Amino acid sequence: MRRLYLLILSFLLPLVSFADEGMWVPIYLQKYAIKQMQKLGCKLSADDIYSTDKPSLKDAIVIFGGGCTGELISSQGLVLTNYHCGYGSIQKLSSLEHDYLTDGFWAYDKSEELPVPGLTVTFLVYMKDVTNQVMKNVDDFLPIEKRNNLIDKACKEIEEKVIDSLGDNYVAEVKPFYKGNQYILIVSEVYKDVRLVGAPPSAIGKFGGDTDNWVWPRHTGDFSLFRIYANKNNEPATYSPDNVPYKPKKYFTINAGGIKQGDFTLVFGYPGYTDEYIPSYLVDNLINIQNPLRIKIRQAKLDIINKAMKSSKDLNIKYFAKQAGIANGWKKWIGQNQGLKRLNILKEKKDFEIKFQKWADTYSNGVYKNLLQDYKKYSGQIRPYLIAYYSFVEDYYFTDLWHFYKNMGKLTRELQSTKSKREKDSLLTKIYKKIDGFYKDFSPEIEKQIYYKTMSFYRQDVDVELQPTYFLQIDSGQTALEHYVDSLWTNSILVDSSRLKRFYKFSARRKRKIKNFYDDPIVQMLSVTEKSFYYTILPKFHNYSDKLDSLNRLFMKAQMQMQPDKTFYPDANFTMRVSYGKVTGSKPEDGLIYNYFTTLDGVIAKGNLDVIDYVVPQKLEELYEKKDYGQWADKNDGKIHVCFLANNHTTGGNSGSPVINANGELIGVNFDRCWQGTMSDIKFDTTVCRNISLDIRYMLFIVDKYAGAKNLISEMNIKH
Ligand code: ARG
Ligand code: GLU
Repeated sequence: MRRLYLLILSFLLPLVSFADEGMWVPIYLQKYAIKQMQKLGCKLSADDIYSTDKPSLKDAIVIFGGGCTGELISSQGLVLTNYHCGYGSIQKLSSLEHDYLTDGFWAYDKSEELPVPGLTVTFLVYMKDVTNQVMKNVDDFLPIEKRNNLIDKACKEIEEKVIDSLGDNYVAEVKPFYKGNQYILIVSEVYKDVRLVGAPPSAIGKFGGDTDNWVWPRHTGDFSLFRIYANKNNEPATYSPDNVPYKPKKYFTINAGGIKQGDFTLVFGYPGYTDEYIPSYLVDNLINIQNPLRIKIRQAKLDIINKAMKSSKDLNIKYFAKQAGIANGWKKWIGQNQGLKRLNILKEKKDFEIKFQKWADTYSNGVYKNLLQDYKKYSGQIRPYLIAYYSFVEDYYFTDLWHFYKNMGKLTRELQSTKSKREKDSLLTKIYKKIDGFYKDFSPEIEKQIYYKTMSFYRQDVDVELQPTYFLQIDSGQTALEHYVDSLWTNSILVDSSRLKRFYKFSARRKRKIKNFYDDPIVQMLSVTEKSFYYTILPKFHNYSDKLDSLNRLFMKAQMQMQPDKTFYPDANFTMRVSYGKVTGSKPEDGLIYNYFTTLDGVIAKGNLDVIDYVVPQKLEELYEKKDYGQWADKNDGKIHVCFLANNHTTGGNSGSPVINANGELIGVNFDRCWQGTMSDIKFDTTVCRNISLDIRYMLFIVDKYAGAKNLISEMNIKH
């Protein structure tokens, strides 16, 4: 009996575990995934999903901005994405007079739509395997630098050739897959006139805030709407009032018929980064060095920013998007570390490595014999540089001042080298604009508190030999550092917009050489830090990370050779991927069961006017009281469904991705993962890893009944 049970189990297991995990490359669906997808209920062919011969689903999907996914939902270029993918844009367009974050924004006519400077959407045109071309002059054993140079050169040649033939609206990029064992050319087309069409108030779009972020049960109406504009020929064009709504090759039909446990789901979008195949040594560095360091620094920043945001409406607008970005990573890494420890991932990897070593000792004259040993050596040697690298990234690079300092430095040099008065004046206008733009969302006082904190971390965490020299000159006591930061802020023009403008005005007028920007105390401090990072830390860091990258490539290849019957999917690399699965809840912890959906009842139940994350807009409450749900309530329980769970393998970048049913219709928008499953970037665990999506009917309900934007509903193709 037991043997029979085991037999059945071993027959089922591979099927179950491989059914849900994976991010598949669209050009290889036919080869690796479509059969399994169809077994789970998918009615689409690989061609319906990705094709270059006919319009396919891939033509209805875009990279939204720089790091999210979006999808076309009307014949007039209407794009749906997450609220949190839109809030950079919404925030930029907001001020105390037009507070679209608090009030929401709806265009009831195309003329009311708001252009978002700098926002783009990117369509995939095609993907093509170019491995042979890229690798024609290299083998596994060339010295790393030489090998990398040859590969870079080959990639550049391929990319340039494509752009030469297609033109500047296109982007060509050759990207490594399977850790550099395969190279794929990705050609895409970029549209540059994108306008804000609709966004709910943050009390809907970010309902639950950071408290609920990464958490189920979830009640966030995480969506916003934009429109792509094109020139008269439907081609990309920069903003112009003459541009017209883009006519897509393909857009989604929306299915408002509801979702059931077990329904097939397909998430199609741009997952950013995963690391499923690395050895225990690197996971160890992640869990024990990188994550704790970054969590600690962000925690300290959040303590400062959260307090400030609570204290003033103005600061709340200024820091809305920045705070969310900091908090998001912070919380994910906490969850990721907990999940990896719970799974005892280090032991699992080590057990595998014992088997691997046995195989490697005998395989092909032992070409992989020293792989694990090398990993052990370099993963240890990189540690001080890993700490320094991430300390720099979190303590300096991810601060407002850093980017301002870089931008102003560049503009100052331009001003210095400009001769003619006319050019100087126009540059000066540009500089003033930059200063105003920066100060709109900047508080020198908050930044000072942050710098005091992050500089003290830097001094304490980073090896003394890797620190910038000014730390040696500041007394080791806390107060000395505080005084130092104080004096920087008192004497620097960078943290005082009117002094800064005056400085540029004088500099531009004076015939003689302008006063050196680099004499400013904050500028000096940052530029010393920059030099220390680029000359002392980065070369060493790269030396080891290049070695580790090269081991990763060999280890990936070896794992594939060792397990020839296993289907491997390549790690995410912000290229278009398909993840399939089904609607399903989970049992994430002992005694805890997650239902697969949430409803408006839960929004109202969480509602609390005293807690900023849980304020429910009055109008939403009224709709709930009157059960004024229009056509959007669930046909079985009569409720408005808000979010649902599925077991698609997703990661950052998949935000805004369409969730598609078996017939290729839109049923939701992906926006998050469950707390207990955030380790899926390193290890996907079928039992607890779940992606969280917005039920498409909640979007329709909010647009229709809350916003009254019938104009938008009527341009969508909705099936009941
Ligand atoms: N966790 C989601 C993602 O990784 C949503 C983040 C936005 N929400 C927030 N409260 N910070 O992007
Ligand atoms: N919210 C994430 C994003 O912005 C998606 C959630 C995840 O990491 O899976 O892409």
